Amino acid sequence: MINKKQDTDSLIEKINILRKEKNAVILAHYYVDSEIQDIADFTGDSLALSQQVSKTTADIIVFAGVHFMAETAKILCPEKKVLLPDLNSGCSLADSCPDDEFEKFINENPGHIVISYVNTTAKVKALTDIVCTSSNAEQIVKSIPEGKKIIFGPDKNLGNYISKVTDREMLIWNGACHVHNEFSLEGILELKEKNPFAKIISHPECPKPILTVSDFVGSTKALIDFSISDNSSEFIVATEPGVLHQMKKLSPFKTFFAAPGNTGECACNECEFMKLNSLEKIYNCLLNETNEIILDSEIIVKARVSIDKMLEISAKFNL
Ligand code: 13P
Ligand code: SF4
Repeated sequence: MINKKQDTDSLIEKINILRKEKNAVILAHYYVDSEIQDIADFTGDSLALSQQVSKTTADIIVFAGVHFMAETAKILCPEKKVLLPDLNSGCSLADSCPDDEFEKFINENPGHIVISYVNTTAKVKALTDIVCTSSNAEQIVKSIPEGKKIIFGPDKNLGNYISKVTDREMLIWNGACHVHNEFSLEGILELKEKNPFAKIISHPECPKPILTVSDFVGSTKALIDFSISDNSSEFIVATEPGVLHQMKKLSPFKTFFAAPGNTGECACNECEFMKLNSLEKIYNCLLNETNEIILDSEIIVKARVSIDKMLEISAKFNL
């Protein structure tokens, strides 16, 4: 135990020396392991991380997240070196929307504004008019003039939820995230029965039955904010359990339960792609400047337009 702590401390020390020497910034999503969240220069949700990237002055960005996030960073900062600690950190939601099939779908449905969730490949973003995240999807859909037809991809659960809250009909791609799509309604209700005062809070990537029984639905950041501001002292949290680290840190006297998944193998639903990140891999990629994200310059230019549009609309709404 002491050795493990010593190893971790010395790894952190080495990372700290390197990030200073190389003018590197370490960004982390709320779903990565807590020890990474704690050493990151900035920890946030998909929108906050994109905003952070767009204003960084670092030469190297180490992205402790998944591949599409690092790609987004590269699109926003093509002149910088963007490193992903493990190049196998994919995303089932991005995989559910292959660019050639999405392009066919767009061509078969002409005259639509294409809104894509940030959880997509750079090639899909290049086919998109406006990118969105779960923090700004509602405002972005509302910003499209009534009467304009919308294609929304790739998350069907988020799409259906946004369609309901904005009262807009949309053509929705049939994709999903295997983490959020696999929470157990039965398990959540059982947990609620045992803890009747706990509020159920969920991410809009969860299916409708989970959202229906929830007291609050919101992006990762919105869930954290709600857990701080709400006067309940217990919460059942239906999103990736990495977020519980921040919730506990910010409200140490409140109790947080990770909503159970359907698999029955663990008491929660972890994203194995996010969990591929480790301090050791961060150190190695920073030391050797390996695992660099390389993108075609034409794709960068096209995808940039749809991401910039998202940042512009978000700024208007102070998001
Ligand atoms: P947000 O960071 O927008 O809440 O998205 C959640 C997610 O699944 C990231 O992969
Ligand atoms: Fe992708 Fe889901 Fe993992 Fe987020 S939680 S990175 S959407 S697989």
